[in-house]
Amino acid sequence: DWTSDVFIDISIEELKNKIGDDKVVMGLSGGVDSSVAATLIHRAIGDNLTCVFVDNGLLRKDEFQEVLDSYQHMGLNVIGVDAKQKFYDALAGLSDPEEKRKAIGRAFIEVFDDEAHKLEGVKWLGQGTIYPDVIESVSVNGPSATIKSHHNVGGLPDFMKLKVVEPLNTLFKDGVREVGRALEIPENIVGRHPFPGPGLAIRILGDITPEKVRTLQEVDHIFIQGLKDHGLYDQVWQAGAILLPISSVGVMGDERTYEKVVALRAVASVDGMTADWVHLPYEFLGKISNDIINKVKGVNRVVYDISSKPPATIEWE
Ligand code: XMP
Repeated sequence: DWTSDVFIDISIEELKNKIGDDKVVMGLSGGVDSSVAATLIHRAIGDNLTCVFVDNGLLRKDEFQEVLDSYQHMGLNVIGVDAKQKFYDALAGLSDPEEKRKAIGRAFIEVFDDEAHKLEGVKWLGQGTIYPDVIESVSVNGPSATIKSHHNVGGLPDFMKLKVVEPLNTLFKDGVREVGRALEIPENIVGRHPFPGPGLAIRILGDITPEKVRTLQEVDHIFIQGLKDHGLYDQVWQAGAILLPISSVGVMGDERTYEKVVALRAVASVDGMTADWVHLPYEFLGKISNDIINKVKGVNRVVYDISSKPPATIEWE
């Protein structure tokens, strides 16, 4: 549409003037914001932009490969880094949410920095910061700024003296999506639900093991694919599953089972600052619950989170 086209033209012009012949490095998350920001910068300076996409082992099922393929189809100059083990090692034995976030943040910076050092003469760091991120990171009383250490903003190690370029820092999420569509970024990226940087690590309450990650990936996949198959995905701001650190008794045939409980969460929101739980149809929830219990080993109970934000948060950690 007209507004997006104007925004794109002006941004590309500004980026060209600002960056010139310099080189830019940028971390991609698979999310809308970093993907749209990278595409704009790529339009402006081409392959002087190098993107780094890290597999932290905490993404959704098959997400790393799917998103990497999309980036390559979009023509981005992208390096995929398998760092799963590094993140699992960094997380081993940690249960506290903030400790987990910090460990993940540190591991990411190390991996990203290693890649950046392999590139010659990089002067700029591209970032997918959007307007609400700017607001949240400056507001002293903002809940997320004080309660959680989000690592989307300012995740720059001191020793990397890069200048920051943030082409989306005046836009809200819906504006970012419009710009992304005008840039013809594939719908599987533009329409993607927000996903936290620490990924499934903050949806596995308690300590993280690769096995728990695999379990949650299967559960999450059944839920998210179900939302898509039933035309519900686009009506929801964000959805996901949470692996609870408790077991409950169930029955299978003549046997009693003692297995994990998962919670499903789907919320409606505009910017993530407030959110309402979504009234998903009972038939849908029933089918998804059956599928999860029948297909995912180690899970015998599914509950649906009917809390809104505030006072609950979207994530459980
Ligand atoms: P809460 O749980 O605070 O989440 O209601 C609001 C939005 O922020 C996302 N979120 C995070 N994103 N790093 C991120 O990049 C984090 O540590 C983090 N914690 C929450 C959450 O998924 C939701 O979209």
